[in-house]
Amino acid sequence: MAELMTISKISDGLRGEVAIPGDKSISHRSVMLSGLGSTPVRITNFLHAQDCLSTVACLRALGAKIEFQSETELTVTGNGFHGLREPGTIIDAGNSGTTLRLMMGLLSAQPFFSAFTGDASLHRRPMGRVAKPLSQMGAQIYGREGNTKLPLAVVPVEGGLKGISYQSPVASAQVKSALLLAGMYADGPTTVTEPFVSRDHTERMLAAFGVPVERAGTAVTINPVKAEDYKAPEAIEVPGDISSAAYWLAAGAILPGSKLLLRNVGINETRTGILEVLQNMGAKLELRNERVSGGEAAADICVEAGPLHGTTFGAEIMPRLIDEIPIIAVAALLAEGDTVITGAGELRVKETDRLAAIEQEFNKLAPGAVEASEDGLVIHGGRTLKKARCFTYDDHRIAMSLAILGAAGEGVELENPGCVNISYPAFYGELERLRKA
Ligand code: S3P
Repeated sequence: MAELMTISKISDGLRGEVAIPGDKSISHRSVMLSGLGSTPVRITNFLHAQDCLSTVACLRALGAKIEFQSETELTVTGNGFHGLREPGTIIDAGNSGTTLRLMMGLLSAQPFFSAFTGDASLHRRPMGRVAKPLSQMGAQIYGREGNTKLPLAVVPVEGGLKGISYQSPVASAQVKSALLLAGMYADGPTTVTEPFVSRDHTERMLAAFGVPVERAGTAVTINPVKAEDYKAPEAIEVPGDISSAAYWLAAGAILPGSKLLLRNVGINETRTGILEVLQNMGAKLELRNERVSGGEAAADICVEAGPLHGTTFGAEIMPRLIDEIPIIAVAALLAEGDTVITGAGELRVKETDRLAAIEQEFNKLAPGAVEASEDGLVIHGGRTLKKARCFTYDDHRIAMSLAILGAAGEGVELENPGCVNISYPAFYGELERLRKA
């Protein structure tokens, strides 16, 4: 029988402060890059959630020493830039596309065999987008459906990888990062050009390890790295994840009577599309205490409820808010007027087909409010919400978005709510705390 959780209506808004948990993308990268160093790196505000723990298990299997001092503090000590060792068993990336795609890039360049698996969702997701350019670099990758789906295996190549110039058809930080990691070990420069710039955490963190990445427009180039130039920093402080803050930004903006202060939110400009969209919808947001932490911009954000109106946005801003579409759709449903989202076809290949999931489940709470197209959504705002039982598709971002939408209406029953452990284990507890505050 499916696990069920009831989220009840929130009548008086949300109030108080939220410490935003560590950024998922940056947490993954902190462990991977530290695992290639030869000196200990102390990582703080690490995201202790399933996806990042998949990366920890992976680097341990490759020989890195990883010790947790607390849930969010760990020390990673690698065996040097050429010190990864052949894993004794299959690498399990769980639900994490970032773990799998980045590790495929890194391990394509190593002189040993590795094999990958993951959960049912990851088995359905397209890996040809990294396997294809890596193969052009000379990597030997084998897998299901013409080497594009899990299970996948990487076989060492004699003579190593070649640097290439690759024009990616998708704006994807996972594709870009996989090629940059492989490119460190190639025989010449590797350039990746994207249609629009995706999140640049890999580039920023590589710089902190003494590896420069050149940027020109939407292109990035990495040169082969000499082991002696790869220098791990002593410490990495992970800023809070704006993709997790997004649920409180939207909830604070739409639930009448709300006022929230979100502490330590990463505001790297390749991630802040949600702030622009919510502001365009009329949301009252205020950035305070702007600072730089661990090479990444961060701030505290205050949000207060007020009337919102519909908006329109498309492909250009998409990489800067790709994971926030489900919660933006919640805000749009509670706004006056229509919201039209285009250029969002990538959502069909996330942890689940998020366009289909949003259409299917949101319409259970607000019949006829959402229409999905091949690459977007039309959301008719201002509808009355009713209570319903909704399916999370085992997708953390769908689950959290449905919880906020239900709380804004008459409540919701969530089937399989536990998937929030992928990125935000404390989510439901925080929702209850803030409503009582
Ligand atoms: C991520 C990149 C994005 C994002 C994912 C995390 C990353 O995926 O959706 O949640 O850490 O590089 P794509 O690169 O596939 O767009």
